[in-house]
Amino acid sequence: MCGIVGYVGEKNAQDFLISGLKRLEYRGYDSAGIVTIKDAGGEKGEATLIRAKGKISNLEEKLAKNKREDKIGIGHTRWATHGEPSETNAHPHQAGYIYLVHNGIIENYKELKEHLTEHEFKSETDSEVLAALINSFYKDGKYSLTDAVVQALKLAKGTYGIAAVSVLNPAEIVVARSGSPLVIGVGHDETLIASDASALVGHTKRAIYLNDGEVATVTRNSIEIKTLNAEPVSAKVEEIETNLAAIQKGGYEHFLLKEIMEQPNSLAETLRGRVNVAEGSVRLGGPGLTETELRNIRHLLIVGCGTAYHAGLLAGYYIEQFTPEITVETVIASEYRYRQAYIPRDSVALIVSQSGETADTLACLREIKKQGIRTIGIVNAIGSTIAREVDGGTYVHVGPEISVASTKAFTSQAIAMVMFGLTIAQAKGVKSSILRPYVNEIAKLPEAISATLKEVEEPVKEIAAKYCKYEHAIYLGRDTAYPTAMEGALKLKEISYVDANAYAFGELKHGPLALVDDRFFELALVPKGELYDKVVSNIQEVLARGGHIVAVTNNLGFDLDVENVVKITTNIEIFAPILMNLVSQLFAYYMTTAKGLNVDQPRNLAKSVTVE
Ligand code: F6R
Repeated sequence: MCGIVGYVGEKNAQDFLISGLKRLEYRGYDSAGIVTIKDAGGEKGEATLIRAKGKISNLEEKLAKNKREDKIGIGHTRWATHGEPSETNAHPHQAGYIYLVHNGIIENYKELKEHLTEHEFKSETDSEVLAALINSFYKDGKYSLTDAVVQALKLAKGTYGIAAVSVLNPAEIVVARSGSPLVIGVGHDETLIASDASALVGHTKRAIYLNDGEVATVTRNSIEIKTLNAEPVSAKVEEIETNLAAIQKGGYEHFLLKEIMEQPNSLAETLRGRVNVAEGSVRLGGPGLTETELRNIRHLLIVGCGTAYHAGLLAGYYIEQFTPEITVETVIASEYRYRQAYIPRDSVALIVSQSGETADTLACLREIKKQGIRTIGIVNAIGSTIAREVDGGTYVHVGPEISVASTKAFTSQAIAMVMFGLTIAQAKGVKSSILRPYVNEIAKLPEAISATLKEVEEPVKEIAAKYCKYEHAIYLGRDTAYPTAMEGALKLKEISYVDANAYAFGELKHGPLALVDDRFFELALVPKGELYDKVVSNIQEVLARGGHIVAVTNNLGFDLDVENVVKITTNIEIFAPILMNLVSQLFAYYMTTAKGLNVDQPRNLAKSVTVE
């Protein structure tokens, strides 16, 4: 979603702003802009505002004709909410002396706008209303920029991460947040601003993560933070762990392929220090629950959106297999936040999010906490809002996920949640003969993932190219392969724009079988196990109606006359769906490249969904 960058220091601000915005490109955007201010020595600095619709390269073209040596500025990538993608709607927005960039949504912008009659509005955005509101306090010199921002934010309803500068004081940037992340990078004789720490990597390792309700006034060598109620805040400087290699393509053509291929390592990072094969046990320090608290859990509520939701569904199927007397409910955050659901007292909620910033998931977390339920984060982004607000948590440690479509996070989220389930089962005294096979397979998974990726990449590439003319797809699975099929279908639809939907095999006869015709192909996940024969019968039914089936199986004896089969030969059985999902990921990737589409930044989507 929208991205913010800011710079005040000794160097060229335009250079940092452009490089920072490029780092944030992966989040999805449709226009971009920067403003820098030259300290001309007089009463007022000279502002250079450059905005462009479309890619940052368009902005760079304009910038080439407007090169400046200014030492302060702010920039933005916009993902349209109010008003179409256009140069006029792009940020920064100007109102009088000030320029503003804003992430989030000001819900009462219409009402506020009615009172801002002196400002001539140029854009259709809620953000310009906020800029005009700040300027209405600032313009007469009664308030400093910081105080004008505070006054305005007290009137604004909604979510925001903002950065503001004024031509009257080209030495300071004012930033504030409520529901939309902001990080302040502490440098030597420079201070950097970003909505995502990846923009700061390579510039500084020291960062301050602003909390909701805080406003900071930064200059090149000072950072002053206070709450909207004027209480001073003593800032905690944290280390940015990400390195440059983690946010570069590293020789791959796309981040998506890099991230798919990274899974042996990223999962190994998730498991590091947490699995004890000799004892057949797992240990998670982060959740911070005592043995008694773990033993008393009767209900697990898992909350997430999109891929994180699918990971939760999959983990739920596993946890029910080995944990007695426990119910698992996995819910979509955007729905759950408005449900009047009763949460039993003996529940623990797992809050699942790669970015740790997803607005709906965050809203659920806050709602669940209000009800006094213990919350545990299954989060990737270190220092993110969800990670900071949960009662305890397990980081999945997969490193930055840049491609909009989530891949490596899914694998690690699902396994991290299964491990949390195992810690409950251990505390409840479940026999080690039941748990050991899960622990053993988890420990073997990174290697199995590596072997499977090598084994299937070429065949999947070939098959995907054959199916790239289809506009409709049905993904099918049963039991643990069903949420896996849902995740596969999501991957395909979001990057290749194929209308792909997943069904539980057993549901086919209850409706979806009517769809089967030459416009559709079916991707069937067929793991060995108790339901294998039933799945084979389900496939026969699709074949009998002229289905175009690609089967993915770890049963080497699979001999149905389907159009294509992808076989997985590792000896992983319980977690075979995790390996099958690699096939779905690669299938989506190669289908998308075969169609010549933008793999890493699919249309209409954003990486981190920080608005509702
Ligand atoms: C799909 C995808 C999204 C995210 C969802 C939740 O590939 O990336 O469905 O999984 O937006 O995002 P996080 O995990 O950041 O909360």
